[in-house]
Amino acid sequence: MIMADETAYQEQFRYTRILLRQERIQTRVREMGAELSRRFRGEKPLLITLLKGGFIFLADLCRAMTIPHELDFMLVRSYEGTTTTGTVQIIMDLKTNIEGRHVVLVEDIVDTGLTLEYIRDHLALRKPASLMVCCLLDKKEAREVDVPLEMVGFTVENEYLVGYGLDYNQLYRNLPFVAAIDPDQA
Ligand code: IMP
Repeated sequence: MIMADETAYQEQFRYTRILLRQERIQTRVREMGAELSRRFRGEKPLLITLLKGGFIFLADLCRAMTIPHELDFMLVRSYEGTTTTGTVQIIMDLKTNIEGRHVVLVEDIVDTGLTLEYIRDHLALRKPASLMVCCLLDKKEAREVDVPLEMVGFTVENEYLVGYGLDYNQLYRNLPFVAAIDPDQA
């Protein structure tokens, strides 16, 4: 992970406060990478992330893993602005056959859980040897469907978050920290 000067972002981006600073994210991601390395030693797991939000978390997580593994991506759309549309559209599917593979679904944030429930079911149909979810942020209070999360980075409040891959109308993804925004002022 590249460490950046947080003050350099203040003038250009409108966020209300920083929730998770870079050091805190790094420490936790390193722990998660170590845990995955222990769990899947000798298995060559496949890490799948949902674009675009998960790309930064995945980039750091995979470098925190010390075992061989593969990566693949799906592009899904479930949100417009700050509200869920309730339907999940797969715009780009996997290139890898996951049958018999140990799959880790890497998610940036789980909010209502609708996206994850849909994708989890969709992947389970393809008969992986195992399927687990590793998500950085769990917005527990906002959950509408009960979907299992095997590994969680941080549990967060129900507010709109940006940075470290998370966007607001496609902007803010490059912030190296996670911040809260007021959508009326962003
Ligand atoms: P869910 O289907 O409501 O759980 O939403 C999951 C997806 O919505 C995540 O993968 C994100 O892409 C997006 N999302 C949910 N909450 C936030 C947020 O606070 N900031 C940015 N994106 C979010």
